[in-house]
Amino acid sequence: MLLPRLLRVGAFMVKELSRGGCTSISRTGCTRQHWRPFIELQSVPRVFQGSIFQKYPHFSTTAENDASHGSNKQKDMINVTFVDKDGEEKNIKVPVGMSMLEAAHENDIELEGACEGSLACSTCHVIVMDMDYYNKLEDPTDEENDMLDLAFGLTETSRLGCQIVASPELDGIRLAIPAATRNFAVDGYVPKPH
Ligand code: FES
Repeated sequence: MLLPRLLRVGAFMVKELSRGGCTSISRTGCTRQHWRPFIELQSVPRVFQGSIFQKYPHFSTTAENDASHGSNKQKDMINVTFVDKDGEEKNIKVPVGMSMLEAAHENDIELEGACEGSLACSTCHVIVMDMDYYNKLEDPTDEENDMLDLAFGLTETSRLGCQIVASPELDGIRLAIPAATRNFAVDGYVPKPH
């Protein structure tokens, strides 16, 4: 009688201990610690978060980082609008460091550039349409001013397209292409787009 009962009690104790959470086992059953499941639940997210950051080291939950990433991207390219002699607008993205003449040629915009940027003509003449942007440009050199004096339809915001280089503060600049060009220095030569 006693042996089967002892075996039953032993089996019950083994079962309760393997389930965990008992502080003591008596004849009436298992007394559990009520805080233990709470600790276990708390530990799950920690493991979860650790595994996420280990797997994706660049992962971030902060909006600040995402925004600065975006702004870095924006600084690599700027928006430029060319307006041709018929008033047609073309918006293009221009990499920082590229001249407006190169950008125009890369995007099939008709801006001559007979001397290919060597300041020997005025066929890359453009008119900056907004004075605020004009004031952001580097001052023209004497050589550029000499060539601008030869340009057709000179205005107070005229520049040579090959001398305007894309920079972040020029994002949004609008450039009008005059109706005609004068080419004294490189007679008749029109370079092919690059
Ligand atoms: Fe000749 Fe700009 S392309 S001066």
